[in-house]
Amino acid sequence: MVPDDGQGAAMPAGAGQRAFAPLLSVEGLTTVFDTPSGPLRAVDGVDLAIGRGEVLAVVGESGCGKTVLALSILGLVSPPGRIVSGRAVFGGQDLLALPEGKRRTIRGSRASMIFQEPMTSLNPVLSIGDQVAEPVRVHRRASRREALAAAGAMLDRVGLSGAGRRLRAYPHELSGGQRQRVMIAMALILSPELLIADEPTTALDVTVQRQILDLMLGLARDTGTAIALVTHNLGVVAETAENVAVMYSGRLVEYGAVADFLREPAHPYGQGLLASLPRLSDRGRRLTPIPGTVPSLADLPTGCHFHPRCPRAFAPCARDIPPLFDLPDGRRVRCWLYG
Ligand SMILES: Nc1ncnc2c1ncn2[C@@H]1O[C@H](COP(=O)(O)OP(=O)(O)OP(=O)(O)O)[C@@H](O)[C@H]1O
Ligand SMILES: [Mg+2]
Repeated sequence: MVPDDGQGAAMPAGAGQRAFAPLLSVEGLTTVFDTPSGPLRAVDGVDLAIGRGEVLAVVGESGCGKTVLALSILGLVSPPGRIVSGRAVFGGQDLLALPEGKRRTIRGSRASMIFQEPMTSLNPVLSIGDQVAEPVRVHRRASRREALAAAGAMLDRVGLSGAGRRLRAYPHELSGGQRQRVMIAMALILSPELLIADEPTTALDVTVQRQILDLMLGLARDTGTAIALVTHNLGVVAETAENVAVMYSGRLVEYGAVADFLREPAHPYGQGLLASLPRLSDRGRRLTPIPGTVPSLADLPTGCHFHPRCPRAFAPCARDIPPLFDLPDGRRVRCWLYG
């Protein structure tokens, strides 16, 4: 890992006990949704870090808070959601403490996001060329012609053949896979330091999912872009990520090196996730790990949120919330088995 400028970023524990300040350090991030029955904690005290060029996988069943976490880091949560505490220190600046204008500038240039559903994040009335060119025009102050030339080159790189013609096309004229390639082009055209990709290929046919993911990872590697990759595919985690963060009902339950996690997941939830996969090469499968379902945020169990489904639960689990315990290999695990 390359040293950061280190302007005041806190040093998180776990995930390799970093020697330098990371690119992104998320500390105690908590996001609630205000509902008639009170505030629901969709993200609850999450701590994690990403080094320059690192791929961090974020996994967990549907409803665990992965998307809300991704949106929170970039300050993209909107009512009824709100961030109630925590920091997201990026290159020495807390993104969550910045005025929205400054945050938008960073979001457009140094940190970008790819959403799961490309049709909802592309503008239906703007041509592909104008959309891919926009970050260049806005953040590099390029002329429209220069920006369109850069967009054409980027569309070539993401494998959209006939880039000149594509520049004039509109989103509805493209297939799902082509639209996702456009999203990748937009997200990476300014070679950001950080890309947050929220299940970037789930909406696509299984046959093109891997192709698109490899394209995104390859381009990011070329530009040294770090990636937080939200995925439900443990095969992808195994092949691409250095570290993994396992979420369960808004909290991190296991966090550390992918190799350690795959060799022997420490948390019973992680063990369940892995056991649910007959083969790591199983592609495009939703995680259906352990009997039962993720609890509703409006009706959370006491103690460890996972204890009602946990095959190894014992007395303290129903009573007290476990903290994150540090394992000798640098992993952090939220489970009383390690207390
Ligand atoms: N607008 C909202 N209002 C109330 N609750 C919300 C809202 N958006 C999300 N939530 C709640 O926040 C929790 C986390 O949702 P989130 O979308 O982050 O899950 P996820 O892990 O991304 O799931 P998936 O794998 O299905 O994408 C869920 O319990 C969800 O019901
Ligand atoms: Mg999601």
